[in-house]
Amino acid sequence: MGALTIHDSIPIPTTTSSMPRLGFGVYQLYGQHCRQAILAALAAGFRHIDSAQLYRNESEVGAAVRQSPVEREQVFLTTKIRAAAGSPEKTYQSALDSVNRVGGAGGYVDLFLVHIPGSSREAREELWKALERLHAQGKAKAIGVSNFRVQHLEEMKEYACVWPPHVNQLELHPWCQQRDLVQFCRDNGIVLQAYSPLSRGEHLGDEALGAVAAKHGKSPAQVLIRYGLQKNWVPLPKSGNPERIKQNADVFDFALDDDDIKALDGLDQGPSGALFPANVK
Ligand code: A2P
Repeated sequence: MGALTIHDSIPIPTTTSSMPRLGFGVYQLYGQHCRQAILAALAAGFRHIDSAQLYRNESEVGAAVRQSPVEREQVFLTTKIRAAAGSPEKTYQSALDSVNRVGGAGGYVDLFLVHIPGSSREAREELWKALERLHAQGKAKAIGVSNFRVQHLEEMKEYACVWPPHVNQLELHPWCQQRDLVQFCRDNGIVLQAYSPLSRGEHLGDEALGAVAAKHGKSPAQVLIRYGLQKNWVPLPKSGNPERIKQNADVFDFALDDDDIKALDGLDQGPSGALFPANVK
């Protein structure tokens, strides 16, 4: 793991794509602030940006990438569809609009996710069919899901042409390890992305984490990102602050040892407040 670099990618099984192992989250970043944060992230070495319809910044992501000196092909861009739109055609159109916002008119996204399982199987099927259509058209190089539990992943087998989904994006950090679900994804070749890898900042003052950070001369946030990388998750830390953005990319000059991993593994609190608990059934 010590040899890991910011340029490393994870192959996405059954596709020709690969995904940079570290991504940049843009939840709650809007307008000019969002654009500047993305430019700072690209300058710091991030080549992977995670957006969503829900974040209301897809256009900013597209604009920032076009504005940056980094080529579009060098950046891995993700978005997520929030909800079915009332008919298969309307849902497809909603997803296609996102592709055009993020990838530019006539462009593509590298990954398109169903954001949440929502409340009905019909809606999940309609959403997945829209993403499968984009995938077949080459407008979404890979497709996946987010916040899906084992039951939702199993259910997909009833309606999916593309199974397994290429990715499941979950809340993952030492206090929320979702071990059974993680194992299921591993067993089935589903790439795991970790949202809120910094626990939304809630546990950065944790004593055990602080001890590991002090041992390596790194910040608690850097240790959490490194932990995610060493778990073979794809961490997506969010920051709107240029200094912290740089810091979050600077996680490739140290490695956690078995004792460190064990200490952090011991912090699990079971499934914590996922973003949309009320909707997950
Ligand atoms: P900010 O955007 O002001 O930097 P998560 O990725 O787990 O959702 O966490 C995001 C939260 O963590 C945000 O509040 C963000 O604030 C904060 N954050 C991001 N990077 C760091 C860092 N290196 N040190 C401390 N806090 C950070």
